[in-house]
Amino acid sequence: MARLYAIANQKGGVGKSTTAVNIAGYLGQWGHRTLLVDLDPQGNATSGLGVLREPSRPNVYSVLVEGRPAETAIIPTAAPGVDLLPSDIALAGAEIELISLPRRESRLLYALDGLGDAYEYILIDCPPSLGLLTLNALVAARHLLVPIQCEFYALEGLGHLAYTLDMVRQQSNPRLELAGIVMTLYDQRTTLSAQVVEEVRRMYPEVVFRTLIPRNVRLSEAPSYGMTIGQYNPRSRGGVAYADLTRELLARAAAEAAAEAVPISSAAAGTDANDPADAASSELESQLGAEAPEGIIDG
Ligand SMILES: Nc1ncnc2c1ncn2[C@@H]1O[C@H](COP(=O)(O)OP(=O)(O)OP(=O)(O)O)[C@@H](O)[C@H]1O
Ligand SMILES: [Mg+2]
Repeated sequence: MARLYAIANQKGGVGKSTTAVNIAGYLGQWGHRTLLVDLDPQGNATSGLGVLREPSRPNVYSVLVEGRPAETAIIPTAAPGVDLLPSDIALAGAEIELISLPRRESRLLYALDGLGDAYEYILIDCPPSLGLLTLNALVAARHLLVPIQCEFYALEGLGHLAYTLDMVRQQSNPRLELAGIVMTLYDQRTTLSAQVVEEVRRMYPEVVFRTLIPRNVRLSEAPSYGMTIGQYNPRSRGGVAYADLTRELLARAAAEAAAEAVPISSAAAGTDANDPADAASSELESQLGAEAPEGIIDG
């Protein structure tokens, strides 16, 4: 089975798409068959991989709303080892259209399930909201990656995300784990960036990735050439940082796979209190509290 990561934060412009494209890029480059699912109507991951929008071509909307099999909409990209389930502007209406459809929260799960073992890693780039599109990603995924921008309001709204994580785990996907917080747009010239990192690390010691993603102009240029940073400029500070982050993610994945390989008889039933991922998730939930979010569709 593929390892499935949802990259989400309802705050806009925190580096979700940049993180999704560049982790996918390195995974593919290093020989891991990877699928990037662009679940955002803005289509930044799609254009960032150099794929032009073609409304006549099947896309993630056709899969999610019209029920087409995912493999009919997936296309190869110029990034080695990376396939794409492209976005389409029609996705903007999907939040509304999904409401009246059966299995409205689990349509992506079923679609990706149909892919079987075709991919080792599947990354889902979410839109900046906690509506039905992001909910579909959280129901389909095993892991949640949260990019947080190193700025003053960094933690604002994280309570909503924690509430959503909690709700999804209770109602439909108990295996969903907070797999990591990525600190993005780090500016080493400001003390504020360092303070924000310190604060987030203090609150979530287990889940924050060691790698900090610097503010780096090469990272913002790469999408305009339709390239991942690994293709465009791997030696830039941004290129090195995303490679380091991807290595960390692979190390965590390997550690988890090893833990899962423990014989059932020696694994405690239910939640393992020593599991850092479990501890971190419940820590996130308890520290931030169940702040009732606006606009989240319950049920
Ligand atoms: N580390 C970085 N250094 C410089 N520019 C960056 C970095 N990360 C992201 N950017 C730029 O910041 C902008 C927002 O990044 P990105 O699109 O990845 O955020 P997002 O969270 O996906 O946004 P949205 O919420 O709109 O989907 C983009 O123009 C991107 O190129
Ligand atoms: Mg985005």
